Amino acid sequence: MSYASPIKASLNRIAFVTGASQGIGRAIATRLARDGFDVAIADIQPAKAKVDGVIDEIKSYGRQAIGVFAGTLQPKQIEAALAETVDRLGPRLFVSVANAGVTQVKPLLDCTPEFIENEVRINLLGLMNTHIYSAKQMVKQGFGGRIIGAGSIASYRTAENLAPYGATKFAVRGFTEAAAKEWAQYGIRVNAYGPGIVDTPMWDHIDRELARIEGITVGEAKAKRVKQDVKLGRIQQPEDVAKLVSFLVSDEGEYITGQTIKTCGGASL
Ligand SMILES: NC(=O)c1ccc[n+]([C@@H]2O[C@H](COP(=O)([O-])OP(=O)(O)OC[C@H]3O[C@@H](n4cnc5c(N)ncnc54)[C@H](O)[C@@H]3O)[C@@H](O)[C@H]2O)c1
Repeated sequence: MSYASPIKASLNRIAFVTGASQGIGRAIATRLARDGFDVAIADIQPAKAKVDGVIDEIKSYGRQAIGVFAGTLQPKQIEAALAETVDRLGPRLFVSVANAGVTQVKPLLDCTPEFIENEVRINLLGLMNTHIYSAKQMVKQGFGGRIIGAGSIASYRTAENLAPYGATKFAVRGFTEAAAKEWAQYGIRVNAYGPGIVDTPMWDHIDRELARIEGITVGEAKAKRVKQDVKLGRIQQPEDVAKLVSFLVSDEGEYITGQTIKTCGGASL
């Protein structure tokens, strides 16, 4: 199992990635930098120290990297972060990845309206607004682009205690299809990735919550699901997801649009 990809020459293009201070977003941002993109790391203010670490890594590959503040709960912050990106790095935005997302684990009967609204606003409205502001910039530039969103295997099959999360990820799949239809005329391809059980702080959180609900010990919920569900026999690494994104934004993916593609080691089978 090898994750090292070659460090390629500059493409003179920018990738904008939300929620890229850690986990899947970080792996995507650093992979795209190795592929030759300059990268804007968009995340919330408390993640600043981690964002700085990602910037250092990207610069070590010879690419430019900046951190921009974008809490995706606020459309104006997304708009401002994209404006700052092209202001500082130039009008050459080519890839936008709406990765930021949250999972909350609760039986539906315990879900409050506030709980549900927060999840919908970050996972779905945040993604929609990131896609739309990015597409506007790409249309203005006139040389097409690649827009990618965070789906999940939950975009196809949801799970108990994760109903609002699953509903947002189903909606990501629908939005991806419609946006792809509208923006193909501008040379913009729109796709989403659908990971399974990825070894990130998000799954550590899911594991702790499931342990509480199911009355088992911390670590057990994750280990049980990896053993039962993942046919390839190991937990997914964030870099596995980044490989798919790298492919989708490359010329190799030139005939793919409107898809939410599962990358899950067979966990959804
Ligand atoms: N981990 C998995 O197993 C898994 C599986 C399927 C899909 N996904 C999806 O992949 C994406 C990334 O997941 P992860 O596991 O890396 O998550 P994570 O919790 O490890 O990281 C999330 C990142 O998003 C940032 N973030 C949180 N709220 C934000 C907001 N309002 N605005 C901007 N940034 C914000 C955090 O600071 C962090 O950098 C999410 O959309 C998630 O739903 C994850």
